[in-house]
Parts: sequence; C-alpha cells; structure tokens
Amino acid sequence: MANIVKIMEGFSFIPRTELNLLEALESQNIDIDYQCREGFCGSCQVQLVDGEVEYFSDPIAYVPEGRILPCCCQAKGDLTVEIPGGCHVKK
Ligand code: FES
Repeated sequence: MANIVKIMEGFSFIPRTELNLLEALESQNIDIDYQCREGFCGSCQVQLVDGEVEYFSDPIAYVPEGRILPCCCQAKGDLTVEIPGGCHVKK
C-alpha cells in the first residue's frame, strides 16, 4: 500500500518508492534546504511530527530528537513532517 507524506501546512502527496524523502519533496516542487544530499551536513533536516522513516545508512550529521534527514531516508508508512520556515511550493 502506498504511503502518504503530509506536510503540516496541509499539503500531502504519495511519494514514488524509488525516491528518498528529499527527492520526493522536490518532486512536488517543495522548497527545502539541502547541501550534501548524503547525511553529512544536516541542512535538510525537518521535524518528524508523526510516523517513522527508514534510513538507508546512519546519518553522519547530528540530528536532534524529533528531527530527520530527508536526504537519506524514506517513509516507512504514512508520515507527517514540518519544514522549518514553512511549506513553500516553487512555481
Ligand atoms: S542535505 Fe546534507 S544532510 Fe541532508
């Protein structure tokens, strides 16, 4: 069954299974910070409000409790996240 990714501001979508969470957010034109895309820098982190993620490998960056690094994980089920600075869709 497909997972649903919900963003706190009300936007939701079904991510393609071959994408990590950062790529899935980008595929929806969600404006999100990133730099390394490999779990080193921590710049992509978002608040995990509800649900669980699965990491492809353990992130190197420090990840405060309740936050996740979308560049190196996928949703394990339905997920709700909050993007720092709010959810902005690129035009
Ligand atoms: S972009 Fe660097 S940790 Fe995700």
